[in-house]
Amino acid sequence: MELYGALGIGRDDRAARAAYDVEGLGFYGAPHVAFLFVGGDGGARLAADVGAYMQTLLLAMTAYGVNGCPQGLLSFYADTVRAELGVTGGRLLVGISFGHADEAAPVNRVTTKRAPLESTTTFHA
Ligand SMILES: Cc1cc2nc3c(=O)[nH]c(=O)nc-3n(C[C@H](O)[C@H](O)[C@H](O)COP(=O)(O)O)c2cc1C
Repeated sequence: MELYGALGIGRDDRAARAAYDVEGLGFYGAPHVAFLFVGGDGGARLAADVGAYMQTLLLAMTAYGVNGCPQGLLSFYADTVRAELGVTGGRLLVGISFGHADEAAPVNRVTTKRAPLESTTTFHA
């Protein structure tokens, strides 16, 4: 809601939301995108490895002053990505658009709040 608020998109404005998705499919104007495929059986263990890899890649980008935006949306277009890049194997899990953020864009001033610990974690004594 905060994101759409910053973009000036109303809750029920489907057309504007769809238009924003189209921007996402253009990598939000970023000059680069990394596509993370999982190979092997594509099972949960390998997917967990790719998740850890993605997080490390995002942290490395941040350390080098590069801004990355993971986009699950891009995985819905795996066949297109495969055809364009000539990739034959693996499952596309996520794409990461990256470059230098436009700091003046209101959308880039939205900071997602982190969920409180008790809502994400159960401690067992
Ligand atoms: C696995 C994953 C998939 C995401 N998919 C999308 C997406 O398809 N489109 C999008 O605009 N944001 C997507 N996001 C959210 C943004 O990448 C980003 O996390 C969000 O703008 C909040 O940024 P912050 O976590 O640095 O506060 C995704 C985030 C994650 C972690």
